[in-house]
Amino acid sequence: MPRAGDVAHPWVMDRIETLLAAMTLDEKIGQLNMVTSHYAVTGPVVAGDSTEGIRAGRIGNLLNHWGAAAVRDIQRVAVEETRLGIPLLLGFDTVHGQRTIFPIPLGEAAAFDPALWEATAREAAIEAAEDGLAMTFAPMLDVARDPRWGRIAEGPGEDPLVAARIADAKVRGFQGADLAAADAVAATAKHFVAYGAATAGRDYASADISERTLNEVYLPSFAAAVAAGVAAVMPSFNDVAGMPMTAHVPLLRDWLRRTLGFEGVIVSDYDAITELVRHGIAEDVVAAAALALNAGVDIDMMGDAYARGLAPALAHGLVTMATIDASVRRVLRLKERLGLFEDPYRRGAVPDAGRRTARRALAREAGRRSVVLLSNRGDVLPLRSGLRRIAIVGPLADARADMRGSWSAAGEATDPVTILEGTAAALPQAQVAHAPGVAIEGGDRDGIPAALEACRDADVVLLCLGEAAAMSGEASCRADPGLPGEQRALAEAVLALGKPVVVLLSCGRPLTVSWLVARADAVLVTWFLGSEAGNAIADVLTGAFNPSGKLPVTWPEHVGQVPIFYGQRPSGRPANPADHYTSKYLDLPVEPLFPFGHGLSYGRFTLSSLGASPAEIGPDGAIEVSVEVANEGERAGETVVFLFIRDPVASVARPVLELKDFTRVALAPGERTTVRWSLPVAALSFLGPDLQPVLEPGRFVLLAGQSAERAALLSAEVTLAG
Ligand code: BGC
Repeated sequence: MPRAGDVAHPWVMDRIETLLAAMTLDEKIGQLNMVTSHYAVTGPVVAGDSTEGIRAGRIGNLLNHWGAAAVRDIQRVAVEETRLGIPLLLGFDTVHGQRTIFPIPLGEAAAFDPALWEATAREAAIEAAEDGLAMTFAPMLDVARDPRWGRIAEGPGEDPLVAARIADAKVRGFQGADLAAADAVAATAKHFVAYGAATAGRDYASADISERTLNEVYLPSFAAAVAAGVAAVMPSFNDVAGMPMTAHVPLLRDWLRRTLGFEGVIVSDYDAITELVRHGIAEDVVAAAALALNAGVDIDMMGDAYARGLAPALAHGLVTMATIDASVRRVLRLKERLGLFEDPYRRGAVPDAGRRTARRALAREAGRRSVVLLSNRGDVLPLRSGLRRIAIVGPLADARADMRGSWSAAGEATDPVTILEGTAAALPQAQVAHAPGVAIEGGDRDGIPAALEACRDADVVLLCLGEAAAMSGEASCRADPGLPGEQRALAEAVLALGKPVVVLLSCGRPLTVSWLVARADAVLVTWFLGSEAGNAIADVLTGAFNPSGKLPVTWPEHVGQVPIFYGQRPSGRPANPADHYTSKYLDLPVEPLFPFGHGLSYGRFTLSSLGASPAEIGPDGAIEVSVEVANEGERAGETVVFLFIRDPVASVARPVLELKDFTRVALAPGERTTVRWSLPVAALSFLGPDLQPVLEPGRFVLLAGQSAERAALLSAEVTLAG
C-alpha cells in the first residue's frame, strides 16, 4: 500500500494518482472534510474531538488549530497513524495578522498602497506559518457599499479596481514566490460572490443584483485573485438571485473553473453546504452534498454534508466517483503544492526574533498610513509640541482588546498599544488626564461628570469614540450605524466646554456622525489599527507622520442614503435642488458627508495641468495622461492622485465616474512632480447591451483629483476614432 510520504518508485509515476487508487470512499470523503478543532469558534457548529476522526481518515483538514507544537502533534497523527499517511491541511482566518495584528482591511485599504498591502500579508503569512498553518481564509474581496453590513470592515471598500489591486497584492503577499516555501500559506479569495450586496445590509441575506453589476463590480476582484495564482476560493453564504453560491453552477463551475481556468480548491464557508437545506434548494444533506460537489465545491468546512451525504449521494447516482475523485485530486494537489508530502512539518519554525521587531514597526507604519483625517478646523492638528495638559476621554481611549478589530486570529487581547498609552508616551511633557465617561454601549451616563472633570484644565481634548471591535465583522450589522450607547451624550457635554476637541473614531465602517463632524475641531478615522494602534495614532496626532489615508468608501451623511457610492449612473433627472422632479430627497442631501478618496493632510497638495494625448486615438495603444502635483504645505507628505474616466455617450449608461488608476505621491514642502499614467485604450471598453466587452468610438473624459468629489476634478478629453 502506498503511503503519502513514500519516495516515488520508478513505477509510481504520480503520487496523487497512486494514492487515489488506494483510497477507500471514506478516505476520499475524509479529504473533502474540514472541521474546527475548538481553538477558536468562528461559527455556530462545534465539532467534538477530531483526533479519532483524523486517525480513521475521516477528517483530512482542520481549521482553527494553530501553534507549532499543537500542529506538529496533530499532523503526526495524520502522517503516522492513518492508513495512507496523508498530511492534514490546516487553515485559519489570518486575515489582518496572525499574532501581530495589522489594521482591519477596510482601514488598510485607506492607505492606497499596494506595496504595503503586500508587505502586511507577507508578514502575516510568515507568522501564520510559524504557527504551523498552511492556509489562510483571506483575502476578503467583497466590494461593499452599505455600511450597515458589518463585514464591510473586512474588505476593500466600494471600488472594484481597488478591490482587484488588493486581491493581487494580498495573494502575492500570503503565498510568496513559492507555495512550498516554509513561510508561505495558501490564500483563499472570499467570499465568492456579491456577499457585500446583502439586501438591506443584513448579513447572510440574499443578494439580488443585475448580471451587469455582478460582472462590473463584484467579479473583478476574484478575477484578479485568480490571475495572481490564488490557491483557493470560498463561496459566500448568500444566494445571488435565488441561487445559493455554494451550489452556483454558472458562477463556480462555468465562470470560475471554465472561463477563468481556476484549478485550485474551492472550500465552502462554515457549514454552508448543510445550509443549502435551509436555503430551500435541497431536501436533505444528501441532496445538498450532491449540489455542492457537482458545482465544484471540494471541501466541506464544518458541515457534515459531505461526511453524511456524499456516500448516499453516490449510491443514488446523484454524484459520480469521477466527480469525487476530481475534488480529492484538487485537495491532494494543494497539499502537494504546499510541500506537505515532502515535509509535513516544514511550517512551525522557531520565530525569528529580529523579524518580530521589524514586523511591529510595519504594523505601526501600516497603522499610521491607514488613518484618515476627515476634518481639521483651524489646524488644531498636529498637536502643538509645547502642549502642557491634555485630556484623553471616551470609551475607546483605553480599549486595548478592541484595537485588534474584527479578526484577531492568534493576537492576544493584551497585546495592542492603546490610544491612551501611545499618546501619553509621545507627549512626555504633557500631563494626561483620562476618564472613559461612558461605556461603548449601554445607557449609563454616570461617568460623564468625571470625564468633564478630566477635561477641565486641558488645553485640548482627545475624544475617543466609536464601536467595539465586535460591532463590525461577521453577523454584526447595524441598522443605525451611528455612535452606540451614550457616546453622543458624552460628546455633547465635552463639546459644550468650548475647548479644542479632536475626535478619534475607532470603527469598522463609516459612522453617521455629521452632527459631530460639524462641531468638533478635528475628526480622525482610526478604524481598528491592530497591535500598534496607539503608537500609530500618536504619530499622526503629533505630526511625526503627516496623515495621507483616503476613504476607500463613501461616507454617508445619514443611513437613509445607503447604499451610497461614487460610481452611480447619471439618471435622466440628476439631482437639482431647484427642480422638484429630480433624483433627490426631500429631507436629506444626496451628497455624502465625505466622498470616496477624501482625506486631508497637514498642508495642501494641489493638482494642475491635466493632459491627455493623443487627442484622437485608435483601438490599440494607450492614452498618455499626466498631471502636475505640488506640495504647497510646509511639511513633507503624501497624497493619492486618482484617475477616473467618464464615458458621456455609450450604448449603455455608464457610471458618472469610473476609477482606472491611482498613484501615491510623496513630496517635500514646495516640491512638485508630474504623475504619468499610460492608460490602455482597452480600459475604455465596457460590457455592451449583450454583456460582451465593447469599445465604442466617441468622446471620453479623463478626470484626475484627490477624491471623487466631482466639482474638484480636473478634466481632459480624448476621442476614440470610429
Ligand atoms: C466566515 C468566513 C471564515 C470562516 C472560518 C465563516 O463564518 O464567513 O469568513 O473564513 O467562518 O472561520
